Amino acid sequence: MSTVELSFKLNGREVSLSVAPDTLLVDLLREGLGLTGTKAGCREGECGACTVLLDGTPMNSCLLPAVKAQGREVTTIEGLEKTDGSLEPLQEAFMGEGAAQCGFCTPAMILTATALLKNNPDPDEGEIRHALSGVICRCTGYRKIVQAVQTAAKARS
Ligand code: FES
Ligand code: FES
Repeated sequence: MSTVELSFKLNGREVSLSVAPDTLLVDLLREGLGLTGTKAGCREGECGACTVLLDGTPMNSCLLPAVKAQGREVTTIEGLEKTDGSLEPLQEAFMGEGAAQCGFCTPAMILTATALLKNNPDPDEGEIRHALSGVICRCTGYRKIVQAVQTAAKARS
């Protein structure tokens, strides 16, 4: 099969590689680049587990052809890692509030909340629930996740 050249910024670094035109971003990230923090769940745009930030906006990477990332910036959960090993306030808050159980939804939740707090540093509960509504959690009942986002918002203010 023919390939196309793809260049984009991934977690702050420029990457260039050849991909099949039908490669999905979730597969490029997980299988091509080893970034398994991005989860593959339903692969139908329903569960949100595959969420990454594309130019800062949460997107379902299972629906996104990798070539759509051309010239753009992709952030995965691995991109939140700091060089000194410390955690982002959202990551601290998810741990502190017990908002991660099996953890399958957690990268998507944290990335989606990252985008929310960037645009709305002091969201109310309804705004948090609305922002996170595209990501399904089967474990927590959502209340602890909402609390974690509120805690992180306070920590950042
Ligand atoms: Fe992408 Fe479920 S795996 S929305
Ligand atoms: Fe298990 Fe959310 S912590 S799906």
